[in-house]
Amino acid sequence: MDDFYAIRRLPPYVFAQVAEIVADARAQGREVTDLSMGNPDLPTPSSIVEVLREAVLDPASHRYSDSRGVQSLREAQARYYGRRFGVKVDPDRQVVATLGSKNAFANLATAITAPGDVVLVPNPSYPIHAFGFVMAGGVVRPIPTKADDGIFRAAERALRYCVPRPIAMVLNYPANPTTECASLDFYREAVRFAKKHDLFILSDLAYAEVYFGDPPPSILEVPGAMDVAIEFTSASKSFSMAGWRVGFAVGNERLIAAMTRVKAYLDYGSFAPIQHAAAVALDNAEDISAEVRAAYARRLDVLLDSFADAGWELPRPEASMFVWAKLPEGEGEDSLEFSKRMVREAGVALSPGTGFGEGGEGHVRIALVDDEAQIRAAARRIGEALRLKEAA
Ligand SMILES: Cc1ncc(COP(=O)(O)O)c(C=O)c1O
Repeated sequence: MDDFYAIRRLPPYVFAQVAEIVADARAQGREVTDLSMGNPDLPTPSSIVEVLREAVLDPASHRYSDSRGVQSLREAQARYYGRRFGVKVDPDRQVVATLGSKNAFANLATAITAPGDVVLVPNPSYPIHAFGFVMAGGVVRPIPTKADDGIFRAAERALRYCVPRPIAMVLNYPANPTTECASLDFYREAVRFAKKHDLFILSDLAYAEVYFGDPPPSILEVPGAMDVAIEFTSASKSFSMAGWRVGFAVGNERLIAAMTRVKAYLDYGSFAPIQHAAAVALDNAEDISAEVRAAYARRLDVLLDSFADAGWELPRPEASMFVWAKLPEGEGEDSLEFSKRMVREAGVALSPGTGFGEGGEGHVRIALVDDEAQIRAAARRIGEALRLKEAA
């Protein structure tokens, strides 16, 4: 029997595929260091956990909450945008709190996509950027990931030749998986382009606070961006709160209103104590994220040094919690085969680049989600596996 319509359009989720290989290896008694998924292992700050603990004790917090997020959380997000980006946002009409930014993206896709609508999505990209629209009945047309004119040239071609013409363009900087970053000048050009061509821009800024150089800008810093753009942020990486499922959309009022309508049918918002704790995290964003950054920066140094010692030179990312690594020369495998072999021979799980789209071939993504000792040991074992192959 044919599979369901939606399932035929959703390839098995990349992280689930890798998790299966890891589970098999572990079932055979092998130790595996899992650097495949961007699943932060750093604990949520105890002060934030304490806010949650106290709020849980109040029975009033056990009821359904507000699907667009409680007022105090939306206000905290508006204050954060003011402090961090110098952008004034209206917490009632320009902010919605979501069950993580992945859900937020899917909610928006559901809200704005008619069957067959075309959306411009980077390839490679974080899967929901494309599949949020596929699930909503839309059609995805790839654009490059690098934040330069190539995107606008590709988008212009799409605008000229796609029928129906595209309705929106996804941007994601710092980018997952490629770690690329965008400048404010690039965003200025993107807003100008979107206005000229009557496109919405959907900007994913999930790594707003995970950077090693200059802080990434928000597209909403561009004057007039609110006319065309909506931006997604998340507590997951910035505050090590991935399991809490707290994200936000901020921006264009029409898009926010559409999302809010869809969410009213789908959910009742996060558990209220989670929202109260997230508001406190946002009000302390600078301190919390400084610690998160310092931890990832230490790991990054160890990772780059120890992989170089193992014979695999990796590029230093400016931001995100990943290294986007070209497969070592002469391995002669695709990224999935290489990743499987690394689990088997080195006990290290990496994400194959093709899990993020065909444009990811030739690369693997390495996440900074274990401590320095584990990263060092993983690099050593990978080095041994690469030498084994060379010798064979
Ligand atoms: C670019 C990007 N957007 C969104 C998400 C999802 O984040 P959340 O936990 O807020 O759903 C991730 C998670 O890895 C991501 O890398």
